[in-house]
Amino acid sequence: MLDMPPPTDAGDVTGHRLDHADGSRRQVFITHIETPYPQGRLIVSRTDTRGIITHCNQSFVDMSGYTRDELIGQPHCLLRHPDMPSAVFRELWETVQGGRQWHGYVKNLRKDGGHYWVFATIVPNIRDGRIVGYTSVRRQPSREKVAQAEANYREWNRS
Ligand SMILES: Cc1cc2nc3c(=O)[nH]c(=O)nc-3n(C[C@H](O)[C@H](O)[C@H](O)COP(=O)(O)O)c2cc1C
Repeated sequence: MLDMPPPTDAGDVTGHRLDHADGSRRQVFITHIETPYPQGRLIVSRTDTRGIITHCNQSFVDMSGYTRDELIGQPHCLLRHPDMPSAVFRELWETVQGGRQWHGYVKNLRKDGGHYWVFATIVPNIRDGRIVGYTSVRRQPSREKVAQAEANYREWNRS
């Protein structure tokens, strides 16, 4: 995965080192600037069984700040924000690999170092009794739930 170039025109920028579950590492920059969820839209992506992005809709492209060509074939952790506790993703993977649906609040990192909050549902795609990939559909989260998730995640990252 490519390292992000530091944003040049943003004020409050901080650098973070991310250690991904697959052993890779990435340097990211965050600007603390939130992009509001696009009203009435769904942000959709599909992955293979390892979490490599195979499809995404235009809202996904627009919100992530990447081009479709940059996204397809990349691991979904390309969007991981350093404020997200790894326990959330461990639980996500345990749930969907067990053939069940997962719901949760996710703070995603944009290519420009900004972020956007979503309420995500992830379902396993099952063919002939086998999991062949996963689909995620994201909706607009309420501000109350985002505030709650933010407080919980801050607490989990401290401990
Ligand atoms: C269908 C699907 C969609 C996902 N969507 C996201 C997402 O939008 N943002 C994100 O950070 N992780 C998402 N994940 C989880 C990532 O695969 C990964 O577990 C997470 O980014 C943490 O990666 P890391 O522990 O390797 O750093 C998704 C996984 C699946 C299967």
